[in-house]
Amino acid sequence: MSNESLANLLKEERRFAPPADLAANANVTAEAYEQAAADRLGFWAEQARRLSWAKEPTKTLDWSNPPFAKWFEDGELNVAYNCVDRHVEAGNGDRVAIHFEGEPGDSRSITYAELKDEVSKAANALLELGVRKGDRVAIYMPMIPETAIAMLAAARIGAAHSVVFGGFSADALATRIKDADAKVVITADGGYRRGQPSALKPAVDDAVAKAEGTVEHVLVVRRTGQDVAFDAERDVWWDELVGRQSAEHTPEAFDAEHPLFILYTSGTTGKPKGILHTSGGYLTQTAYTHWAVFDLKPETDVYWCTADVGWVTGHSYIVYGPLANGATQVMYEGTPDTPHQGRFWEIVEKYRVSILYTAPTAIRTFMKWGDEIPAQFDLSSLRVLGSVGEPINPEAWVWYRKNIGADRTPVVDTWWQTETGAMMISPLPGVTETKPGSAQRPLPGISATVVDDEANEVPNGGGGYLVLTEPWPSMLRTIWGDDQRFLDTYWSRFEGKYFAGDGAKKDDDGDIWLLGRVDDVMLVSGHNISTTEVESALVSHPAVAEAAVVGAADETTGQAIVAFVILRGSAAEDEKLVAELRDHVGATLGPIAKPKRVLPVAELPKTRSGKIMRRLLRDVAENRRLGDVTTLTDSTVMTLIQSKLPSSSSED
Ligand code: WT7
Repeated sequence: MSNESLANLLKEERRFAPPADLAANANVTAEAYEQAAADRLGFWAEQARRLSWAKEPTKTLDWSNPPFAKWFEDGELNVAYNCVDRHVEAGNGDRVAIHFEGEPGDSRSITYAELKDEVSKAANALLELGVRKGDRVAIYMPMIPETAIAMLAAARIGAAHSVVFGGFSADALATRIKDADAKVVITADGGYRRGQPSALKPAVDDAVAKAEGTVEHVLVVRRTGQDVAFDAERDVWWDELVGRQSAEHTPEAFDAEHPLFILYTSGTTGKPKGILHTSGGYLTQTAYTHWAVFDLKPETDVYWCTADVGWVTGHSYIVYGPLANGATQVMYEGTPDTPHQGRFWEIVEKYRVSILYTAPTAIRTFMKWGDEIPAQFDLSSLRVLGSVGEPINPEAWVWYRKNIGADRTPVVDTWWQTETGAMMISPLPGVTETKPGSAQRPLPGISATVVDDEANEVPNGGGGYLVLTEPWPSMLRTIWGDDQRFLDTYWSRFEGKYFAGDGAKKDDDGDIWLLGRVDDVMLVSGHNISTTEVESALVSHPAVAEAAVVGAADETTGQAIVAFVILRGSAAEDEKLVAELRDHVGATLGPIAKPKRVLPVAELPKTRSGKIMRRLLRDVAENRRLGDVTTLTDSTVMTLIQSKLPSSSSED
């Protein structure tokens, strides 16, 4: 019997060495791995010194009551002071913190000195509204600078923020307001989305009514100028209240373990989980990883993360990591195809962006739109490219490096989660010889491995479950109000280890490849096959831009592989191509992985953060009524896909 929990089928031989000049001047060298391996806690204690502490911590980790960690427990700091004031005090007040680019084309640049004034005024405004240390503030906003300012203002006075993505419904907002018992909601009249003002305030009115009384005030930023209902007792305009505050606010120091924010992850089932992050450890690891993984040079780099602040990527790599490091960054309000499909590249050219951090879903969309679009812009300022959110198919990785990075820039595929708070597994751009499609190695100070069903570490070449074997500074501390669920969800599958819910394999060098959520793994004739590997094999065919693969119940094989593919611009959709794609997968991964059916479609169902919803595709493939579609970006996509489904399947 094999102890392999997940088959290892894909072989990828391409390798890319770090550029010599980047390696020569890199922030981090290979020594960091050795140093951290020799003294993990000493390594993190040293990284904590990149922050300004009101009281330096003397203790690094208390792990006496696992899995409830305390990092830098006796230290005290103010997170907003670290992200703003200290850069002004160091003489960098004139440095731009945020270049804001609105979707309609309006733009403004905010220096660190201006940011300090705005955050201080907003902090004073929250105090005037009665918000105090230990309270919760809900934030439901478009991608505008006031969103970051609101988060930092809450942090500055010791109130935890709970940012709810602006695309979520009033019901979703109400559940989150209620669960966290938020006192104040910060919102805007609306934001710009695909060329139109898109309202936010009506959903807040609805949600506040549904949340039944926890909310005392709603603070409203004027962004679009659209008409909104206004409750004179409860609602206040941001420009009026914040505008008349003093720009003086003395930050108070809080304990390192003081709550910084709650961020809800929906997961696949059940009530959303309020992931709780605290201050000192979280800021240490976000600042360190942002500096190390992107090789950030704050004096010269222009950094751009395209995520929404409503996701953890926006929290850690738009707000906290970059600002703690004194970086200059771009913040963009809108979508990549408004008003044209070259919008991202126009922004890179305009601000001379040098570090770009985006998601595989965006990269595959750009591949589909065609190479000629980015080719029209000057992207020569780019020097590091990052990816996050899903496994990146090797072909998409190579496309990204070649078409965006001029076949010159390193690509760093960063694995982490809302729960981990910061990057955990990633190449280092000045050190790692990269492999397209692999996140490769745990970062210095991080311990991760792959285990089988019995929690034994798999040998190189084997597949199984990704686990984290030692606590890390930015780890979630619990699920808000539900310690038991925290234990059950993450710490019960493998004793003493954090189970991330992802499948992974180790290659012959011991490098880690992520294989998707274990719930998506297919069982075909007794073999566990990862959706990621079959999808990557499909995307490696020149006709395919994007693929989603599911296992559908099958009488003979247990599950049969069904693939949904989006073709590249020029590919013709016919039976010959379908046969060719099936053969291509068979030739790449072996006959066991050959899809039973391949269905070309125009779009795939995705969550609002861009992850493919395979659960819904499974419903379609098994001719079931569709499950819950409320988290889809666009529910008409499913109708289109269902209409494509042939009544009989193609067979070997
Ligand atoms: C899940 C976490 C991390 C910020 C955005 C998503 C998947 C994330 C990668 C990657 C393969 C990845 C995993 C993970 N994921 N990054 N580089 N390679 N898979 O945060 O919404 O909490 O999702 O996203 O499945 O568990 P999240």
